[in-house]
Amino acid sequence: ASAPVVTLDGPSGSGKGTVGQVLAARLGWYFLDSGALYRLVGLLAHETAVRLDDGPQLARLAQEMHVDFGVNPAGTPRVVLNGVDVGDRLRTEEAGDRASRVAAVPEVRQALLEKQRAFRRPPGLVADGRDMGTTVFPDALLKVFVTASAEQRAERRYKQLKEKGFDVNLARLLEEIRERDARDAARAVSPLRPAADAQVLDTSDLSISEVVDRIEGLLHERR
Ligand code: C5P
Repeated sequence: ASAPVVTLDGPSGSGKGTVGQVLAARLGWYFLDSGALYRLVGLLAHETAVRLDDGPQLARLAQEMHVDFGVNPAGTPRVVLNGVDVGDRLRTEEAGDRASRVAAVPEVRQALLEKQRAFRRPPGLVADGRDMGTTVFPDALLKVFVTASAEQRAERRYKQLKEKGFDVNLARLLEEIRERDARDAARAVSPLRPAADAQVLDTSDLSISEVVDRIEGLLHERR
């Protein structure tokens, strides 16, 4: 049998990225940040002047890139592209916007399918994204759909950006979050929605470690 997978899907700002990293570390499992793959395709397209709707060229970029996830000495997660740490270039609003555009291109989703499945290795994989449970790992051991209210997510994002010294506007962030949610939910290929067999977990009033505890509890019930 192949290695067990826990899928964490949900909108951005639900906390699933951090939850996924903490959970993978606790379990000693591999971690897949699938959003980073879409962000990388967007970044590569930008750097090589490929249009964000050019399916065949974007698919070629997606197939040719070599990606690893690791943790740098400071303990923060990092993304390594063709042997080079991409640093924080993937975490900008612009990178997120490009990612959500290339994510709507069917050839890109198809090209990334194999790439994502290759991260499944013993002893197990925690996979974070939008369609991990519905499309990429339909046979996952545990599927969790992580949500939080748009207001909560805007608030969290606001705090993060403020701490980094950015001048941000809460109402605008909320509006951007709603727009991106709508785009992710409305696209024809792999729209964002819980798998039929997913556990829905609302994190609006929970801390990261409380969320991880709950998911570990769900996992123990299955094993
Ligand atoms: O999770 P993250 O914010 O890094 O994802 C960036 C964008 O990539 C999302 O807004 C979404 O459009 C897209 N994405 C996706 N499917 C995934 C992961 C991310 O469509 N599995």
